[in-house]
Amino acid sequence: MTPDAKARVLEQVRTFHRERQQPAFVPGETPILPSGAVLDEEDRVALVEAALDMRIAAGPSARRFEREFARHFGLRKAHMVNSGSSANLLALTALTSPKLGDRRLRPGDEVITVAGGFPSTVNPIVQNGLVPVFVDLELGTYNATADHVAAALSGRTRAIMMAHTLGNPFQAEEIAQIAAEHDLFFIEDNCDAVGSTYRGRPAGTFGDLSTVSFYPAHHITSGEGGCVLTGNLELARIVESLRDWGRDCWCEPGTDNTCLKRFDYQMGSLPKGYDHKYIFSHVGYNLKATDLQGSLVLSQLRKLPEFGRIRRRNWTALRSGLDGLPGLLLPEPTPGSDPSWFGFLITVRPDAPFACADLVAFLEDRRIGTRRLFGGNLVRHPAYEGVPYRVSGELTNSDTVTEHTFWIGVYPGITPEMTDYMVASIKEFVVRYR
Ligand SMILES: Cc1ncc(COP(=O)(O)O)c(C=O)c1O
Repeated sequence: MTPDAKARVLEQVRTFHRERQQPAFVPGETPILPSGAVLDEEDRVALVEAALDMRIAAGPSARRFEREFARHFGLRKAHMVNSGSSANLLALTALTSPKLGDRRLRPGDEVITVAGGFPSTVNPIVQNGLVPVFVDLELGTYNATADHVAAALSGRTRAIMMAHTLGNPFQAEEIAQIAAEHDLFFIEDNCDAVGSTYRGRPAGTFGDLSTVSFYPAHHITSGEGGCVLTGNLELARIVESLRDWGRDCWCEPGTDNTCLKRFDYQMGSLPKGYDHKYIFSHVGYNLKATDLQGSLVLSQLRKLPEFGRIRRRNWTALRSGLDGLPGLLLPEPTPGSDPSWFGFLITVRPDAPFACADLVAFLEDRRIGTRRLFGGNLVRHPAYEGVPYRVSGELTNSDTVTEHTFWIGVYPGITPEMTDYMVASIKEFVVRYR
């Protein structure tokens, strides 16, 4: 395709985008989604351009995104993958690498994590034969505290892996301190909190590794997708190897002999000079993302500050509009944090004259979408029956969340008209019980 032909197609894509009408918001009829992607003309052009170029495997946009995203966090390396769950799997599995020698995590070692949340923060611990140690969370912030983590330590604790809940940072600095004092690895699942800060520092920069999801519900999207970030080059090499089949070689796709020693290595019991491209130093996966995904998320990255501003605006409108309503426990940012919120959590107080399920049904009936705090207390799910784990203390608040908590949206597709309608609807429901 000539440059002219391509420019013509892309111009048509722009026209196509502009001609699509956004339907006006009709309260009670237009769905207010809890989350979703906001995709503009530039995103559409970026995606189509990658398709026109047939960049169907991992390629230059994904690489460029990795560099820019790492720089955005002030970290050394970012590795794009095909989902946030894959990012979690890679981050935790990296800690089991033989390359870490005695520091590697071994089956039976304990990893402290939080009972209430999304399963793929926990699953890699189980999948690697390690033992999750569940701690409870606080109502209001919906995070575990550094005290919860400290109380869960045992002689077998080797790592901490936990998520910043729905954009609200946990006490990452204090928990990093505990990790440093006890020689533990620390992974931040930052899938829901890109753009949030704690004590002025971005969430995702406190751990040895952090992970991001680019599923459409998240702060920026590549469709399916995710990323592992780290400031540690040793861990970065391991993550890359595990992502790319477990290979020892680090050549970009389509390139050869980056290390200038392609036929000079002797590893394992392979013959000397065996092609480095096919030497495997890990039992790995293939979790790479495509360049279509890379192009889209690179374009989305430009919008991250504006998306964060709208998320904060929407959250603040809901928080101030609902303030003081009886029967509801409203969310609180962790002291010292500035969350780029993922959603607006509401707990119906157990002694309220109405049930959480009734409020949820009322809102859904008005087309105001709701979600649970993912799995709530994960140990109550059939998946974890028979899985070896330890519980530190009681999981009382995780149980409260399972029974009485839900969230509504703040994503950038939500307008002030919509937040007004959400506030008015919740008030209308609550005052019925006065
Ligand atoms: C905290 C957390 N971690 C991990 C994930 C998994 O991300 P993905 O859906 O991209 O696999 C999610 C998904 O929403 C999540 O909320």
